[in-house]
Amino acid sequence: MREYRDDYVRSGEYIDILIAPWWQRFGRDVAEALRGVDAQAGPLVDIGAGGGQGTRLAAEVLPEAEVLAVEPSPLLRGVLLSRVAERPDLRERVSVVAEDLLSARLPERICGALAMNVIGHFDPDGRERVWSLLARRLSPRGRIALNLSEPLRPARVPRAPMGEARVGRGRCVGWAAAEPSGPESVTWYMEYEVHDGLGGVRTSRTDYTWWTLDEAGLRAETARHGLAVSAFGPAGAGLFVLSHGRG
Ligand SMILES: C[S@@+](CC[C@H](N)C(=O)[O-])C[C@H]1O[C@@H](n2cnc3c(N)ncnc32)[C@H](O)[C@@H]1O
Repeated sequence: MREYRDDYVRSGEYIDILIAPWWQRFGRDVAEALRGVDAQAGPLVDIGAGGGQGTRLAAEVLPEAEVLAVEPSPLLRGVLLSRVAERPDLRERVSVVAEDLLSARLPERICGALAMNVIGHFDPDGRERVWSLLARRLSPRGRIALNLSEPLRPARVPRAPMGEARVGRGRCVGWAAAEPSGPESVTWYMEYEVHDGLGGVRTSRTDYTWWTLDEAGLRAETARHGLAVSAFGPAGAGLFVLSHGRG
C-alpha cells in the first residue's frame, strides 16, 4: 500500500455510524442501479467499502454475487469484517481485501463495482488509473455505481454539523468545513465530539485532501476509457453509473 495515506486514523471510529443516514437516503437508489447485474460474470468490487453498508446492500441485491470489499483503513476494516462475519450469508460470499484499490490484486473480470463516497480520495492521476483498471476488468454488460460529493469544484464550505448519532447515553456529533487547497482540491477539516452521557466529552480533529470532480469532468475522464456515464437517483444527488459504450 505504498501510495496510500490513511485519512481515517482519527475518525474511523465514527464514520460508519455517521454515514448511515446517507445509506438510508440513497441505498434504495444504489440497489436499483445494481439490480440485474450478471453476477456470473465475476465478483463485484466495493471500492473503499468502509464499514460495509454498501457491501451488505450489494450482497443483498445480488444474492448470487461474490463481493470483494476493498478497504485499506484498519479501523474501518474492523467494522466491515464484523458486519460481514456476523451474517452467515455474507460470510460465505464476501471477502475483505486489506489493500487500497490501486494495490489490490483484483480478478481479471468483475461484474461491477461500487465506489460510494470515495472518489475524492483519488488525485487526477489516481483516478486515471482507477478508470483504466475498472474499464479493463468490467464485464461487457457490467455496471459501476459511484457518487460525486460536493463541493464539485474547489470552494469554501463553512463549518457546519454534518451528522449526529446516538448510541445509548452517548452522542457523536461530526462537524465539517472545507477550504480550497489547489485548482482541483479542497482540504476538509473534520471535528468529532463524543458526549458519553456521563459528563465526559472527547473531541478529535482531522483533515484530509479531497479531489474535486464534477459531472462534466467525470464524463470526459471515463470516456477516454470507453465508459459511458448515466445519472441515477434523485436529481442533483451526484449518483452515476458507468458502463461500456454509450450512456
Ligand atoms: C467516506 S468513507 C466511505 C465508506 C463507504 N464507501 C461508505 O460509503 O459507507 C471513504 C472510504 O474510502 C476508503 N479509501 C480511501 N482511499 C482509498 C483507496 N485508495 N483505495 C480504496 N479505498 C480507499 C477509506 O478508507 C474509507 O473507508
